[in-house]
Amino acid sequence: MEKKRTLVTTALPYANGPVHIGHLAGVYVPADIYVRYLRLKGEDVLMIGGSDEHGVPITIKAKREGVTPQDIVDRYHSIIKDSMEGLGISFDIYSRTTSDIHSQTASEFFRHLYDKGEFIEKSSMQLYDEKAGQFLADRYVTGECPHCHNPHAYGDQCEKCGTSLSPNELINPKSALTDTTPVLRETFHWYLPLDKWQPKLEQWILNDHKEWRPNVYGQCKSWLDMGLQPRAVSRDLDWGVPVPVEGAEGKVLYVWFDAPIGYISNTKELLPDSWEKWWKDPETRIINFIGKDNIVFHCIVFPAMLSAYGDGYQLPDNVPANEFLNLEGDKISTSRNWAVWLHEYLEEFPGKQDVLRYVLTANAPETKDNDFTWADFQARNNSELVAILGNFVNRALVLTHKYFGGKVPAAGSLEQIDREALAEIGELKGKMSALLDEFHFRDALKEAMNMARCGNKYLQETEPWKVAKSDMERTATILNTALQITANLAIAFEPFLPFMSKKLCGILNIGNIDWQMLGGDAILPAGAEIGQPELLFEKIEDAAVSAQLAKLEAAKEANAKAAWKPEPVAEDVDIDLFAKCDIRVGTVLECQKVPKADKLLQFKIDDGSGEPRTIVSGIAKYYEPEQLVGKQVCYIANLPARKLRGVESCGMILSAVNSDGSLTVIGPSAPVAPGSKVG
Ligand code: 2FM
Ligand code: ZN
Repeated sequence: MEKKRTLVTTALPYANGPVHIGHLAGVYVPADIYVRYLRLKGEDVLMIGGSDEHGVPITIKAKREGVTPQDIVDRYHSIIKDSMEGLGISFDIYSRTTSDIHSQTASEFFRHLYDKGEFIEKSSMQLYDEKAGQFLADRYVTGECPHCHNPHAYGDQCEKCGTSLSPNELINPKSALTDTTPVLRETFHWYLPLDKWQPKLEQWILNDHKEWRPNVYGQCKSWLDMGLQPRAVSRDLDWGVPVPVEGAEGKVLYVWFDAPIGYISNTKELLPDSWEKWWKDPETRIINFIGKDNIVFHCIVFPAMLSAYGDGYQLPDNVPANEFLNLEGDKISTSRNWAVWLHEYLEEFPGKQDVLRYVLTANAPETKDNDFTWADFQARNNSELVAILGNFVNRALVLTHKYFGGKVPAAGSLEQIDREALAEIGELKGKMSALLDEFHFRDALKEAMNMARCGNKYLQETEPWKVAKSDMERTATILNTALQITANLAIAFEPFLPFMSKKLCGILNIGNIDWQMLGGDAILPAGAEIGQPELLFEKIEDAAVSAQLAKLEAAKEANAKAAWKPEPVAEDVDIDLFAKCDIRVGTVLECQKVPKADKLLQFKIDDGSGEPRTIVSGIAKYYEPEQLVGKQVCYIANLPARKLRGVESCGMILSAVNSDGSLTVIGPSAPVAPGSKVG
């Protein structure tokens, strides 16, 4: 059934860090493609976004930095908002959950449910940090996951195995505030009895929405099959929307209760007088774009909240959740700085917004987790955007200037090859529309690229540069056709590559484009002026890719350093045993690589005996031989000699093991006589 209007919501990113390519590929780029497509079709559509500014990670970050949670969210909200705009994500509103209108809306929502008797009030034993004097919600507790035994699981989720947890389930829990072991103490909270909504949700999802993506449907089914349980909607915290009930001092709404209400408050903020029709009229299609970790909240919890509220609130028509995007084979992580941050990308690749949009869509994690690599980014830019799309458009424009002074030539009678090329554009439009309607953005983009391929093939086969030598009338028809294909590309790519589309429309002098025009063979009238050709895309050089890889490498090293702890001290040894070990200082006279052994260096050491001592050491990965000549090193002098790769080694050079596993040779801090004893 066609509905009158479409409300598109996008998961509200936590304002505890900037957004990265994982967020973009999962939610914002696909949502933006969809919204731009609907707008091109002339549909009534709203795109709602905003920052999720509550929750424990924000308070933890604030404590670590010695600032207030408000300082943290102010900082990241503005970075996120600006960078999304920079990438052309076309929100109708991008607001935030610390706004007054949001607090009022969320507070009123809770109070309405409370007054209707939709909550259960329950006491329970929860972890309490005696040193900090507070209860430990969610991420304030870390410990061992009871399922996969990851020692660094959080109180609400294990990031390793993805299981949702409650803090009490963790083995050996520790407070993230004070690193002490918390105790159990009684507290009370309000719970939404999801079990009450189980039959309605089963009917709505399992029967009425069989068309949802298999990952979404499957996750919902498994939650429903397990049987829904009451879920706490408040927390003992001092950051969030206060629970609007007497006796609830020190309690706030759980972040996952207030965040989805953010979609409503942001709509209200945008349209104070007409927001209700977007939420309560069955003629509105509601589409929630989210990542897979948000499925249960959008398909079970929020729908239960809306159902409990009543008053005409509609449930979403679809929840197209994406899987995750990894980066260079590793899970993207804000805390480990293993990410490509959007605001940094926009600074480092100015004018290349569409390249990122293209790569993230071409490789979108729609049906399974996918990997972003800089090599793929470069290859897709150079061999698809530059070599296929940019190349075709450039040829069509340059030839028009060369043979027709930059004016669209009038087409004579079309030959079969012209008709076939134009018909193919029409067919591809049909395929694209069907795919976009079904949220298959990755495949829709492929079809758009096929339009450009079709253009290249057409020019290759018709060879206007040859025809122009003898037949200008035929050349005019060919270039008219090529220009009509170019105009079609400007429309077909608008949802995906809006910056390119705008530039191309400018060159072609076409003002208002719409989806109905797509597939047309007379978008550009004969005689219309065409602007000077400009390259739509430029090659990305190896140096740019290497710089990004070096940045990631640096993040990895910094992580290893931050995570490094000295090894525990070994068991006590007898002093006599230590005394038996004869450690000396010697001066390196010669040093060379051991042939056919990557790891080994062979030393000649002056040990004071007058006869150089040979020692072989496994440090070739960390030093060039000449770096060590003349240096003084410590070595164990009384180890029995042994042969390494055919060289007899008399002793062992001592090294310190660094946090990354590399070795640093140790020696005296000032020169000493060769052969001096260390003890
Ligand atoms: O997972 C997240 O990043 C959440 N901040 C998403 C919230 S979506 C909605 F409910 F606001
Ligand atoms: Zn686990």
